[in-house]
Amino acid sequence: MTSTVETKPFTDQKPGTSGLRKKVRVFQQPHYAENFIQSVFDVVEGKDGATLVIGGDGRYLNREVIQTAIRMAAANGFARAIVGQGGILSTPAASNVIRTRGAIGGLVLSASHNPGGPDEDFGIKYNVSNGGPAPESFTDALYARTLEIDRYVISDMTDIDLDTLGETTVDGLTVEVIDPVTAYAECMEGLFDFAAIRDLIAGGFRLSFDAMHAVTGPYATEILERRLGAAPGTVVNGAPLPDFGGHHPDPNLVHAHELYERMMGDDAPDFGAASDGDGDRNLIIGRGIFVTPSDSLAVLAANAHLAPAYKDGIAGIARSMPTSAAADRVAQALDVPLYETPTGWKFFGNLLDAGLVTICGEESAGTGSNHVREKDGLWAVLLWLNILAVRRQPVAEIMADHWARYGRNYYARHDYEGVEQAGADALMTSLRERLVTLPGTTIGDLTVSEADDFAYHDSTDGSVSRKQGIRILFADGSRIVFRLSGTGTQGATLRVYIERYEPADGDLAQQTGDALAPLVAAAETVASIKQHTGRNEPDVVT
Ligand code: G6P
Ligand code: ZN
Repeated sequence: MTSTVETKPFTDQKPGTSGLRKKVRVFQQPHYAENFIQSVFDVVEGKDGATLVIGGDGRYLNREVIQTAIRMAAANGFARAIVGQGGILSTPAASNVIRTRGAIGGLVLSASHNPGGPDEDFGIKYNVSNGGPAPESFTDALYARTLEIDRYVISDMTDIDLDTLGETTVDGLTVEVIDPVTAYAECMEGLFDFAAIRDLIAGGFRLSFDAMHAVTGPYATEILERRLGAAPGTVVNGAPLPDFGGHHPDPNLVHAHELYERMMGDDAPDFGAASDGDGDRNLIIGRGIFVTPSDSLAVLAANAHLAPAYKDGIAGIARSMPTSAAADRVAQALDVPLYETPTGWKFFGNLLDAGLVTICGEESAGTGSNHVREKDGLWAVLLWLNILAVRRQPVAEIMADHWARYGRNYYARHDYEGVEQAGADALMTSLRERLVTLPGTTIGDLTVSEADDFAYHDSTDGSVSRKQGIRILFADGSRIVFRLSGTGTQGATLRVYIERYEPADGDLAQQTGDALAPLVAAAETVASIKQHTGRNEPDVVT
Protein backbone atom coordinates (compact mmCIF):
# COMPACT_ATOMS: atom_id res chain seq x y z
CA MET A 1 0.00 0.00 0.00
CA THR A 2 1.27 3.44 -0.79
CA SER A 3 0.20 6.71 0.73
CA THR A 4 0.64 10.41 0.16
CA VAL A 5 2.17 12.42 2.99
CA GLU A 6 1.80 16.17 3.26
CA THR A 7 5.00 18.09 3.83
CA LYS A 8 6.51 21.57 3.79
CA PRO A 9 9.68 22.67 2.00
CA PHE A 10 13.03 22.93 3.77
CA THR A 11 14.93 25.94 2.49
CA ASP A 12 18.40 24.41 2.88
CA GLN A 13 18.35 21.55 0.35
CA LYS A 14 20.54 23.12 -2.32
CA PRO A 15 22.94 20.46 -3.62
CA GLY A 16 26.62 21.46 -3.34
CA THR A 17 29.68 20.31 -5.30
CA SER A 18 28.56 16.74 -4.82
CA GLY A 19 24.95 16.34 -3.75
CA LEU A 20 23.25 17.34 -0.51
CA ARG A 21 25.49 17.05 2.55
CA LYS A 22 24.34 17.90 6.02
CA LYS A 23 24.77 16.82 9.60
CA VAL A 24 23.05 13.52 10.44
CA ARG A 25 20.78 15.42 12.85
CA VAL A 26 19.57 17.60 9.99
CA PHE A 27 18.73 14.51 7.94
CA GLN A 28 16.95 13.03 10.97
CA GLN A 29 14.33 15.78 11.03
CA PRO A 30 10.91 14.38 10.10
CA HIS A 31 10.37 14.46 6.30
CA TYR A 32 13.86 15.87 5.58
CA ALA A 33 15.30 12.95 3.61
CA GLU A 34 11.85 12.15 2.15
CA ASN A 35 11.46 15.70 0.82
CA PHE A 36 14.81 15.56 -0.91
CA ILE A 37 14.30 12.09 -2.37
CA GLN A 38 10.80 12.99 -3.61
CA SER A 39 12.20 16.16 -5.18
CA VAL A 40 14.76 14.03 -7.01
CA PHE A 41 12.04 11.67 -8.22
CA ASP A 42 9.86 14.61 -9.28
CA VAL A 43 12.66 15.84 -11.54
CA VAL A 44 13.61 12.43 -13.02
CA GLU A 45 11.84 11.87 -16.30
CA GLY A 46 10.72 8.40 -17.38
CA LYS A 47 10.92 6.68 -13.98
CA ASP A 48 7.77 4.65 -14.59
CA GLY A 49 8.91 1.05 -14.96
CA ALA A 50 12.56 2.06 -14.73
CA THR A 51 15.45 0.64 -12.70
CA LEU A 52 17.04 2.61 -9.87
CA VAL A 53 20.35 1.80 -8.16
CA ILE A 54 20.60 2.49 -4.43
CA GLY A 55 23.71 2.18 -2.30
CA GLY A 56 25.93 4.01 0.09
CA ASP A 57 29.22 4.01 1.91
CA GLY A 58 27.85 2.34 5.05
CA ARG A 59 28.01 5.41 7.23
CA TYR A 60 25.64 6.11 10.11
CA LEU A 61 22.02 6.44 8.80
CA ASN A 62 22.84 4.55 5.58
CA ARG A 63 20.52 1.62 6.20
CA GLU A 64 17.59 3.73 7.38
CA VAL A 65 17.69 6.06 4.39
CA ILE A 66 18.06 3.10 2.02
CA GLN A 67 14.85 1.59 3.39
CA THR A 68 13.10 4.95 2.96
CA ALA A 69 14.41 5.30 -0.59
CA ILE A 70 13.18 1.78 -1.45
CA ARG A 71 9.68 2.54 -0.10
CA MET A 72 9.56 5.79 -2.02
CA ALA A 73 10.89 4.18 -5.21
CA ALA A 74 7.98 1.71 -5.03
CA ALA A 75 5.44 4.48 -4.58
CA ASN A 76 6.97 6.51 -7.40
CA GLY A 77 6.52 3.82 -10.02
CA PHE A 78 10.03 2.39 -10.41
CA ALA A 79 9.92 -1.27 -11.41
CA ARG A 80 13.28 -2.36 -9.98
CA ALA A 81 15.65 -1.20 -7.29
CA ILE A 82 19.16 -2.66 -7.33
CA VAL A 83 20.67 -2.37 -3.88
CA GLY A 84 24.15 -3.31 -2.67
CA GLN A 85 24.24 -6.02 0.01
CA GLY A 86 24.27 -4.44 3.46
CA GLY A 87 23.38 -1.17 1.76
CA ILE A 88 26.94 -0.94 0.49
CA LEU A 89 28.05 0.32 -2.91
CA SER A 90 31.15 2.41 -3.41
CA THR A 91 30.54 5.47 -5.56
CA PRO A 92 32.46 4.10 -8.58
CA ALA A 93 30.78 0.69 -8.15
CA ALA A 94 27.37 2.40 -8.13
CA SER A 95 28.33 4.22 -11.32
CA ASN A 96 29.35 0.91 -12.86
CA VAL A 97 26.07 -0.80 -11.87
CA ILE A 98 23.98 2.09 -13.26
CA ARG A 99 25.80 1.77 -16.58
CA THR A 100 25.93 -1.99 -16.90
CA ARG A 101 22.36 -2.59 -15.73
CA GLY A 102 20.81 0.15 -17.86
CA ALA A 103 19.39 1.95 -14.83
CA ILE A 104 17.78 5.34 -15.19
CA GLY A 105 19.97 6.58 -12.35
CA GLY A 106 20.97 5.97 -8.78
CA LEU A 107 20.89 7.34 -5.27
CA VAL A 108 24.36 7.35 -3.73
CA LEU A 109 24.23 7.86 0.01
CA SER A 110 27.48 9.31 1.22
CA ALA A 111 29.22 12.39 2.52
CA SER A 112 32.41 11.12 0.89
CA HIS A 113 35.46 11.90 3.01
CA ASN A 114 33.54 13.73 5.75
CA PRO A 115 33.36 11.93 9.11
CA GLY A 116 30.37 9.75 10.01
CA GLY A 117 28.36 9.07 13.17
CA PRO A 118 25.35 10.55 14.97
CA ASP A 119 26.99 13.97 15.25
CA GLU A 120 28.72 13.92 11.90
CA ASP A 121 27.79 14.04 8.24
CA PHE A 122 25.44 12.31 5.85
CA GLY A 123 24.66 12.96 2.20
CA ILE A 124 22.46 12.05 -0.75
CA LYS A 125 23.54 12.40 -4.34
CA TYR A 126 21.66 11.52 -7.50
CA ASN A 127 23.52 10.07 -10.47
CA VAL A 128 21.99 10.00 -13.93
CA SER A 129 21.82 7.23 -16.52
CA ASN A 130 25.41 7.64 -17.74
CA GLY A 131 26.45 6.73 -14.18
CA GLY A 132 27.72 10.20 -13.36
CA PRO A 133 26.62 12.89 -10.93
CA ALA A 134 23.58 14.82 -12.13
CA PRO A 135 24.55 17.90 -14.14
CA GLU A 136 23.80 21.43 -12.96
CA SER A 137 20.64 21.65 -15.05
CA PHE A 138 19.26 18.73 -12.99
CA THR A 139 20.50 19.95 -9.60
CA ASP A 140 19.10 23.45 -10.27
CA ALA A 141 15.68 21.98 -11.09
CA LEU A 142 15.97 19.71 -8.04
CA TYR A 143 16.71 22.64 -5.74
CA ALA A 144 13.76 24.57 -7.17
CA ARG A 145 11.56 21.54 -6.53
CA THR A 146 12.70 21.27 -2.87
CA LEU A 147 11.44 24.82 -2.35
CA GLU A 148 7.91 24.07 -3.46
CA ILE A 149 7.34 20.45 -2.48
CA ASP A 150 4.10 19.86 -0.57
CA ARG A 151 3.74 16.05 -0.60
CA TYR A 152 5.64 12.83 -1.05
CA VAL A 153 4.52 9.31 -1.76
CA ILE A 154 5.72 6.26 0.13
CA SER A 155 4.89 2.59 0.46
CA ASP A 156 4.22 1.09 3.87
CA MET A 157 6.14 -2.12 3.08
CA THR A 158 8.20 -3.63 5.89
CA ASP A 159 11.99 -3.31 5.82
CA ILE A 160 13.73 -5.21 3.05
CA ASP A 161 16.40 -7.66 4.24
CA LEU A 162 19.48 -5.93 2.88
CA ASP A 163 21.87 -8.64 3.98
CA THR A 164 20.58 -11.54 1.89
CA LEU A 165 21.26 -11.68 -1.83
CA GLY A 166 18.20 -12.12 -4.03
CA GLU A 167 14.97 -10.57 -5.20
CA THR A 168 11.73 -9.57 -3.44
CA THR A 169 8.75 -7.88 -5.07
CA VAL A 170 6.56 -5.59 -2.99
CA ASP A 171 4.10 -2.93 -4.13
CA GLY A 172 5.15 -3.38 -7.76
CA LEU A 173 8.84 -2.89 -7.03
CA THR A 174 11.34 -5.70 -7.40
CA VAL A 175 14.18 -5.12 -4.98
CA GLU A 176 17.33 -6.94 -6.03
CA VAL A 177 20.09 -7.19 -3.44
CA ILE A 178 23.42 -7.67 -5.22
CA ASP A 179 26.94 -8.46 -4.16
CA PRO A 180 28.50 -4.99 -4.30
CA VAL A 181 32.03 -6.16 -5.15
CA THR A 182 31.91 -8.76 -7.95
CA ALA A 183 30.80 -6.67 -10.92
CA TYR A 184 33.26 -3.94 -9.98
CA ALA A 185 36.16 -6.37 -9.58
CA GLU A 186 35.34 -7.82 -13.01
CA CYS A 187 35.31 -4.35 -14.53
CA MET A 188 38.82 -3.75 -13.10
CA GLU A 189 40.03 -7.10 -14.36
CA GLY A 190 38.87 -6.09 -17.82
CA LEU A 191 40.92 -2.89 -17.76
CA PHE A 192 44.23 -3.95 -16.30
CA ASP A 193 46.84 -6.65 -16.76
CA PHE A 194 46.14 -8.60 -13.57
CA ALA A 195 48.64 -11.29 -14.56
CA ALA A 196 51.46 -8.75 -14.77
CA ILE A 197 50.50 -7.22 -11.41
CA ARG A 198 50.29 -10.70 -9.85
CA ASP A 199 53.79 -11.38 -11.15
CA LEU A 200 55.11 -8.16 -9.70
CA ILE A 201 53.64 -8.99 -6.30
CA ALA A 202 54.78 -12.61 -6.44
CA GLY A 203 58.29 -11.27 -7.08
CA GLY A 204 58.36 -9.60 -3.66
CA PHE A 205 56.83 -6.19 -4.40
CA ARG A 206 55.07 -5.08 -1.21
CA LEU A 207 52.09 -2.77 -0.89
CA SER A 208 49.86 -1.33 1.79
CA PHE A 209 46.31 -0.11 1.26
CA ASP A 210 44.51 1.86 3.97
CA ALA A 211 40.74 1.52 3.54
CA MET A 212 40.22 3.91 6.48
CA HIS A 213 37.33 1.76 7.83
CA ALA A 214 35.33 2.94 4.84
CA VAL A 215 33.70 1.37 1.82
CA THR A 216 36.78 0.18 -0.10
CA GLY A 217 37.72 -2.45 2.49
CA PRO A 218 35.77 -5.31 0.87
CA TYR A 219 36.71 -4.17 -2.65
CA ALA A 220 40.42 -3.88 -1.90
CA THR A 221 40.53 -7.17 -0.03
CA GLU A 222 38.90 -9.00 -2.93
CA ILE A 223 41.02 -7.37 -5.62
CA LEU A 224 44.43 -6.86 -3.99
CA GLU A 225 44.61 -9.84 -1.65
CA ARG A 226 42.40 -12.46 -3.35
CA ARG A 227 42.75 -11.75 -7.06
CA LEU A 228 46.25 -10.24 -7.14
CA GLY A 229 47.84 -12.33 -4.40
CA ALA A 230 48.99 -9.56 -2.08
CA ALA A 231 49.76 -10.83 1.43
CA PRO A 232 46.91 -10.94 3.95
CA GLY A 233 47.08 -7.71 5.92
CA THR A 234 47.93 -5.66 2.83
CA VAL A 235 44.55 -4.00 3.34
CA VAL A 236 44.51 -2.23 6.70
CA ASN A 237 41.41 -0.80 8.42
CA GLY A 238 39.44 -2.98 6.00
CA ALA A 239 36.17 -3.32 7.90
CA PRO A 240 33.66 -0.59 6.99
CA LEU A 241 32.33 1.07 10.17
CA PRO A 242 29.38 3.51 10.48
CA ASP A 243 31.66 6.08 12.12
CA PHE A 244 34.85 5.11 10.25
CA GLY A 245 36.40 4.27 13.61
CA GLY A 246 36.00 7.89 14.67
CA HIS A 247 38.34 9.16 11.96
CA HIS A 248 37.96 11.33 8.89
CA PRO A 249 37.97 8.89 5.96
CA ASP A 250 39.90 11.45 3.92
CA PRO A 251 42.99 10.09 2.20
CA ASN A 252 45.35 13.00 2.68
CA LEU A 253 48.59 13.37 4.60
CA VAL A 254 46.79 14.58 7.70
CA HIS A 255 44.11 11.92 8.02
CA ALA A 256 46.12 9.06 6.51
CA HIS A 257 49.25 9.96 8.47
CA GLU A 258 49.78 6.38 9.67
CA LEU A 259 50.14 5.23 6.09
CA TYR A 260 52.40 8.18 5.37
CA GLU A 261 54.65 7.32 8.31
CA ARG A 262 54.76 3.67 7.25
CA MET A 263 55.78 4.73 3.74
CA MET A 264 58.51 7.02 5.05
CA GLY A 265 59.86 4.44 7.55
CA ASP A 266 62.90 2.18 7.23
CA ASP A 267 60.87 -0.91 6.39
CA ALA A 268 58.48 0.89 4.04
CA PRO A 269 56.63 -1.19 1.44
CA ASP A 270 57.15 -0.30 -2.24
CA PHE A 271 53.75 1.26 -2.68
CA GLY A 272 51.12 2.73 -0.41
CA ALA A 273 47.60 3.94 -1.14
CA ALA A 274 44.37 4.89 0.58
CA SER A 275 40.82 5.72 -0.41
CA ASP A 276 38.01 7.74 1.14
CA GLY A 277 34.58 7.15 2.69
CA ASP A 278 32.84 6.21 -0.56
CA GLY A 279 35.83 4.91 -2.52
CA ASP A 280 36.22 7.54 -5.20
CA ARG A 281 39.33 9.33 -3.95
CA ASN A 282 42.89 8.04 -3.82
CA LEU A 283 46.14 8.81 -2.09
CA ILE A 284 49.34 7.50 -3.66
CA ILE A 285 52.62 7.26 -1.76
CA GLY A 286 55.73 5.49 -3.01
CA ARG A 287 58.50 4.37 -0.66
CA GLY A 288 59.79 7.70 0.69
CA ILE A 289 57.75 9.86 -1.68
CA PHE A 290 54.25 11.36 -1.64
CA VAL A 291 52.77 11.82 -5.10
CA THR A 292 50.48 14.86 -5.30
CA PRO A 293 47.11 14.16 -6.94
CA SER A 294 47.97 16.59 -9.72
CA ASP A 295 51.25 14.79 -10.41
CA SER A 296 49.52 11.44 -10.17
CA LEU A 297 47.07 12.48 -12.89
CA ALA A 298 49.97 13.54 -15.11
CA VAL A 299 51.92 10.29 -14.57
CA LEU A 300 48.83 8.12 -15.11
CA ALA A 301 47.98 9.96 -18.33
CA ALA A 302 51.58 9.73 -19.59
CA ASN A 303 51.78 5.99 -18.89
CA ALA A 304 48.19 4.84 -19.41
CA HIS A 305 49.12 3.10 -22.67
CA LEU A 306 50.96 0.49 -20.57
CA ALA A 307 47.59 -0.87 -19.39
CA PRO A 308 45.48 -2.98 -21.77
CA ALA A 309 42.40 -0.72 -21.65
CA TYR A 310 44.36 2.31 -22.84
CA LYS A 311 46.92 0.63 -25.08
CA ASP A 312 45.72 2.53 -28.16
CA GLY A 313 46.28 5.85 -26.42
CA ILE A 314 43.95 8.34 -24.78
CA ALA A 315 41.59 10.76 -26.54
CA GLY A 316 42.25 13.66 -24.21
CA ILE A 317 42.68 14.71 -20.59
CA ALA A 318 40.40 16.83 -18.41
CA ARG A 319 41.36 18.41 -15.11
CA SER A 320 39.56 20.78 -12.78
CA MET A 321 40.79 24.36 -12.92
CA PRO A 322 42.56 24.35 -9.53
CA THR A 323 44.44 21.14 -10.42
CA SER A 324 48.05 21.83 -11.42
CA ALA A 325 49.04 22.15 -15.06
CA ALA A 326 51.31 19.07 -14.88
CA ALA A 327 48.78 17.13 -17.00
CA ASP A 328 48.72 19.92 -19.59
CA ARG A 329 52.33 19.19 -20.48
CA VAL A 330 51.55 15.51 -20.91
CA ALA A 331 48.59 16.34 -23.15
CA GLN A 332 50.84 18.55 -25.23
CA ALA A 333 53.44 15.80 -25.60
CA LEU A 334 50.77 13.25 -26.51
CA ASP A 335 49.18 15.77 -28.86
CA VAL A 336 45.73 15.32 -27.32
CA PRO A 337 43.39 18.05 -26.03
CA LEU A 338 43.36 19.20 -22.41
CA TYR A 339 40.08 20.48 -20.94
CA GLU A 340 39.96 22.71 -17.86
CA THR A 341 36.65 22.41 -15.98
CA PRO A 342 35.24 23.75 -12.70
CA THR A 343 35.72 21.75 -9.50
CA GLY A 344 33.31 18.80 -9.37
CA TRP A 345 33.34 15.48 -11.17
CA LYS A 346 29.99 16.24 -12.77
CA PHE A 347 31.71 18.55 -15.26
CA PHE A 348 33.67 15.63 -16.76
CA GLY A 349 30.57 13.61 -17.66
CA ASN A 350 29.76 15.39 -20.92
CA LEU A 351 33.38 15.28 -22.10
CA LEU A 352 33.60 11.55 -21.36
CA ASP A 353 30.23 10.84 -22.99
CA ALA A 354 31.32 12.71 -26.11
CA GLY A 355 34.55 10.71 -26.27
CA LEU A 356 36.62 13.89 -26.04
CA VAL A 357 38.64 12.71 -23.06
CA THR A 358 39.66 9.36 -21.60
CA ILE A 359 41.31 10.35 -18.31
CA CYS A 360 40.19 12.98 -15.81
CA GLY A 361 41.55 14.19 -12.52
CA GLU A 362 41.30 16.69 -9.74
CA GLU A 363 43.67 18.07 -7.12
CA SER A 364 41.17 16.85 -4.51
CA ALA A 365 42.56 13.32 -4.88
CA GLY A 366 40.23 12.15 -7.63
CA THR A 367 41.30 10.39 -10.80
CA GLY A 368 39.31 8.25 -13.17
CA SER A 369 38.59 7.31 -16.75
CA ASN A 370 35.81 6.58 -19.18
CA HIS A 371 35.15 3.14 -17.62
CA VAL A 372 32.60 4.79 -15.27
CA ARG A 373 31.42 8.36 -14.71
CA GLU A 374 32.81 8.87 -11.24
CA LYS A 375 36.32 9.21 -9.97
CA ASP A 376 37.61 5.88 -8.84
CA GLY A 377 40.08 5.33 -6.00
CA LEU A 378 40.92 1.67 -6.66
CA TRP A 379 41.12 2.28 -10.40
CA ALA A 380 43.94 4.77 -9.76
CA VAL A 381 45.71 2.30 -7.49
CA LEU A 382 45.43 -0.46 -10.09
CA LEU A 383 46.62 1.73 -12.95
CA TRP A 384 49.64 2.68 -10.85
CA LEU A 385 50.28 -1.01 -10.11
CA ASN A 386 49.93 -1.89 -13.79
CA ILE A 387 52.45 0.81 -14.70
CA LEU A 388 54.84 -0.36 -11.95
CA ALA A 389 54.45 -3.95 -13.15
CA VAL A 390 55.56 -2.94 -16.64
CA ARG A 391 58.24 -0.37 -15.78
CA ARG A 392 59.69 -2.21 -12.76
CA GLN A 393 61.04 1.01 -11.25
CA PRO A 394 60.44 2.48 -7.80
CA VAL A 395 57.78 5.21 -7.61
CA ALA A 396 60.46 7.79 -6.74
CA GLU A 397 62.33 6.98 -9.94
CA ILE A 398 59.16 7.22 -12.02
CA MET A 399 58.52 10.68 -10.57
CA ALA A 400 62.10 11.81 -11.16
CA ASP A 401 61.93 10.61 -14.78
CA HIS A 402 58.63 12.38 -15.26
CA TRP A 403 59.89 15.73 -13.95
CA ALA A 404 63.10 15.41 -15.93
CA ARG A 405 61.03 15.15 -19.06
CA TYR A 406 58.12 17.54 -18.42
CA GLY A 407 59.39 19.84 -15.66
CA ARG A 408 57.80 19.96 -12.22
CA ASN A 409 54.71 21.82 -11.02
CA TYR A 410 55.37 22.46 -7.33
CA TYR A 411 51.92 22.52 -5.81
CA ALA A 412 50.09 22.85 -2.50
CA ARG A 413 46.57 23.54 -1.31
CA HIS A 414 45.98 25.47 1.89
CA ASP A 415 42.58 24.96 3.53
CA TYR A 416 41.04 27.27 6.12
CA GLU A 417 38.20 25.15 7.42
CA GLY A 418 34.96 26.17 9.11
CA VAL A 419 35.67 29.90 8.98
CA GLU A 420 32.93 32.47 9.32
CA GLN A 421 30.91 32.70 6.10
CA ALA A 422 30.81 36.51 6.15
CA GLY A 423 34.60 36.81 6.34
CA ALA A 424 35.12 34.24 3.57
CA ASP A 425 32.59 36.02 1.35
CA ALA A 426 34.24 39.39 2.05
CA LEU A 427 37.63 37.98 1.01
CA MET A 428 36.24 36.70 -2.29
CA THR A 429 34.26 39.88 -2.97
CA SER A 430 37.27 42.06 -2.32
CA LEU A 431 39.35 39.99 -4.76
CA ARG A 432 36.58 40.11 -7.37
CA GLU A 433 36.39 43.87 -7.11
CA ARG A 434 40.12 44.20 -7.78
CA LEU A 435 40.38 41.75 -10.67
CA VAL A 436 40.65 44.37 -13.39
CA THR A 437 43.26 46.43 -11.57
CA LEU A 438 45.57 43.55 -10.61
CA PRO A 439 47.29 42.78 -13.94
CA GLY A 440 50.59 44.67 -14.24
CA THR A 441 50.97 45.15 -10.47
CA THR A 442 53.72 43.43 -8.48
CA ILE A 443 53.33 41.47 -5.27
CA GLY A 444 56.74 40.90 -3.69
CA ASP A 445 58.92 39.90 -6.64
CA LEU A 446 55.98 38.58 -8.65
CA THR A 447 54.23 40.45 -11.45
CA VAL A 448 50.55 39.69 -12.04
CA SER A 449 49.95 38.92 -15.70
CA GLU A 450 46.24 38.04 -15.56
CA ALA A 451 43.45 37.80 -13.01
CA ASP A 452 39.94 36.48 -13.52
CA ASP A 453 36.98 34.64 -12.05
CA PHE A 454 36.96 31.28 -13.82
CA ALA A 455 33.96 30.63 -16.07
CA TYR A 456 33.47 27.35 -17.91
CA HIS A 457 31.81 27.01 -21.28
CA ASP A 458 30.83 23.41 -21.89
CA SER A 459 31.38 22.86 -25.60
CA THR A 460 29.11 19.81 -25.68
CA ASP A 461 25.89 21.38 -24.40
CA GLY A 462 26.61 25.10 -24.48
CA SER A 463 26.07 25.51 -20.72
CA VAL A 464 28.08 28.15 -18.85
CA SER A 465 29.17 27.94 -15.20
CA ARG A 466 30.47 31.19 -13.73
CA LYS A 467 32.23 32.28 -10.54
CA GLN A 468 34.20 29.06 -10.24
CA GLY A 469 37.28 30.50 -8.51
CA ILE A 470 39.57 33.53 -8.63
CA ARG A 471 42.76 32.95 -10.59
CA ILE A 472 45.79 35.16 -10.25
CA LEU A 473 48.40 34.30 -12.82
CA PHE A 474 51.95 35.61 -12.63
CA ALA A 475 54.40 36.47 -15.40
CA ASP A 476 56.71 33.57 -14.46
CA GLY A 477 53.91 31.02 -14.96
CA SER A 478 53.08 30.68 -11.26
CA ARG A 479 49.49 30.81 -10.11
CA ILE A 480 47.35 31.33 -7.02
CA VAL A 481 43.68 30.30 -7.00
CA PHE A 482 41.12 31.24 -4.35
CA ARG A 483 37.88 29.28 -4.00
CA LEU A 484 35.26 28.51 -1.40
CA SER A 485 34.57 24.82 -0.95
CA GLY A 486 31.17 23.51 -2.00
CA THR A 487 31.27 20.36 0.13
CA GLY A 488 31.52 21.56 3.73
CA THR A 489 28.70 21.33 6.24
CA GLN A 490 29.82 23.98 8.71
CA GLY A 491 30.71 27.62 8.01
CA ALA A 492 32.90 28.22 4.97
CA THR A 493 36.12 26.59 3.86
CA LEU A 494 38.56 28.74 1.97
CA ARG A 495 40.87 26.88 -0.38
CA VAL A 496 44.03 28.55 -1.64
CA TYR A 497 45.77 26.61 -4.42
CA ILE A 498 49.39 27.53 -5.02
CA GLU A 499 51.46 26.43 -7.98
CA ARG A 500 54.89 27.13 -9.44
CA TYR A 501 56.38 25.59 -12.55
CA GLU A 502 60.04 24.61 -12.65
CA PRO A 503 61.27 23.66 -16.14
CA ALA A 504 62.92 20.31 -16.83
CA ASP A 505 66.40 21.83 -16.62
CA GLY A 506 65.61 23.69 -13.37
CA ASP A 507 65.87 22.70 -9.72
CA LEU A 508 63.55 19.70 -9.52
CA ALA A 509 64.47 18.51 -6.03
CA GLN A 510 63.33 21.35 -3.78
CA GLN A 511 61.10 20.97 -0.78
CA THR A 512 57.60 22.01 -1.88
CA GLY A 513 57.30 24.43 1.05
CA ASP A 514 60.51 26.21 0.06
CA ALA A 515 59.60 26.32 -3.61
CA LEU A 516 56.24 27.90 -2.83
CA ALA A 517 57.17 30.27 0.02
CA PRO A 518 57.15 33.49 -2.06
CA LEU A 519 53.71 32.58 -3.46
CA VAL A 520 52.32 31.80 -0.01
CA ALA A 521 53.42 35.28 1.08
CA ALA A 522 51.88 36.79 -2.05
CA ALA A 523 48.57 35.04 -1.33
CA GLU A 524 48.43 36.69 2.09
CA THR A 525 49.35 40.10 0.65
CA VAL A 526 46.75 40.04 -2.09
CA ALA A 527 43.87 38.49 -0.14
CA SER A 528 44.45 39.49 3.52
CA ILE A 529 43.62 35.95 4.58
CA LYS A 530 44.46 36.50 8.25
CA GLN A 531 42.24 39.54 8.49
CA HIS A 532 39.26 37.92 6.75
CA THR A 533 39.44 34.48 8.36
CA GLY A 534 40.94 35.32 11.73
CA ARG A 535 43.40 32.47 11.16
CA ASN A 536 47.18 32.72 11.20
CA GLU A 537 47.69 29.56 9.24
CA PRO A 538 45.77 26.94 7.27
CA ASP A 539 44.17 23.97 9.05
CA VAL A 540 45.26 21.53 6.37
CA VAL A 541 48.01 21.70 3.77
CA THR A 542 47.81 19.06 1.07
C1 G6P B 1 33.98 16.13 -4.11
C2 G6P B 1 33.72 16.16 -5.58
C3 G6P B 1 34.98 16.54 -6.30
C4 G6P B 1 35.52 17.85 -5.78
C5 G6P B 1 35.72 17.77 -4.29
C6 G6P B 1 36.17 19.07 -3.64
O1 G6P B 1 34.85 15.10 -3.80
O2 G6P B 1 33.28 14.91 -6.04
O3 G6P B 1 34.72 16.60 -7.66
O4 G6P B 1 36.74 18.16 -6.37
O5 G6P B 1 34.53 17.36 -3.68
O6 G6P B 1 35.17 20.01 -3.68
P1 G6P B 1 35.24 21.32 -2.83
O7 G6P B 1 34.10 22.14 -3.36
O8 G6P B 1 35.13 20.97 -1.38
O9 G6P B 1 36.60 21.94 -3.11
ZN1 ZN C 1 34.45 10.54 -2.06
